[in-house]
Amino acid sequence: MSTITQPDTSRLDRHTVIDPAILYFGTSVALLSTRDEKGHANLAPNSSVWWLSHTAVVGIAARSQTGRNLLSTRECVINLPSVNEVDAVDRLALTTGRHPVSERKARAGYRYVRDKFGEASLHAIDADMVSPPRVVECPVNLESRVTGLHVLGGGDDPEGADLLAVELEIVRVHVHEGIRSPTHETRIDPELWRPLITSFQRFFGLGGEAQSSRLSSIDEEWYRG
Ligand SMILES: Cc1cc2nc3c(=O)[nH]c(=O)nc-3n(C[C@H](O)[C@H](O)[C@H](O)COP(=O)(O)O)c2cc1C
Repeated sequence: MSTITQPDTSRLDRHTVIDPAILYFGTSVALLSTRDEKGHANLAPNSSVWWLSHTAVVGIAARSQTGRNLLSTRECVINLPSVNEVDAVDRLALTTGRHPVSERKARAGYRYVRDKFGEASLHAIDADMVSPPRVVECPVNLESRVTGLHVLGGGDDPEGADLLAVELEIVRVHVHEGIRSPTHETRIDPELWRPLITSFQRFFGLGGEAQSSRLSSIDEEWYRG
């Protein structure tokens, strides 16, 4: 006999089965800077980034210019805009550094832009360890190198794939002074860091802190091990 207690659902909202076209439930926005084989810099918004230790995994359309650049030159700066940079991010939406623009993208309103930094009124500055530039205005710049390429849905040919999960090892972290912890030299203060969030194609900021967190009783240094 089952020992699971059935909840009293009369007071809860009921679930309904639906078939959404997209599943973007709210993630932080990144601007990925990369270079092509000739050295030309590209910059593109991305919201499929997750982190584990000092690795970032980025979900990317392999045929975007950023996808091509990651496959060929294998370096990237993950620039994290705050809510204050939302207009710059929005100016890069519906643009691509890939010429010619694919028919599918053109139909959706995408256009080719060679100078993405100029288009967004953002400034480029040299990175220390990798070739793509950092974005001056973004409070966080993460210099990174490709350490793994995974074809989403299986397959072993990243060049011919539609979607890739790209593993990036973070090799240097730059942050604006304004988001640093006043008490710990190596930390970011989550009260000061206001990431830009995208949810179902629209931009949001974070609300206030929801409640105290048991996980935060662990000292951040513990994760270094
Ligand atoms: C807020 C936002 C989030 C996006 N997230 C992703 C993403 O996670 N992965 C992806 O492949 N494209 C994403 N895109 C679309 C790319 O930016 C778009 O394909 C763009 O044309 C790529 O530029 P590129 O061809 O110059 O690399 C996003 C666009 C916006 C505006």
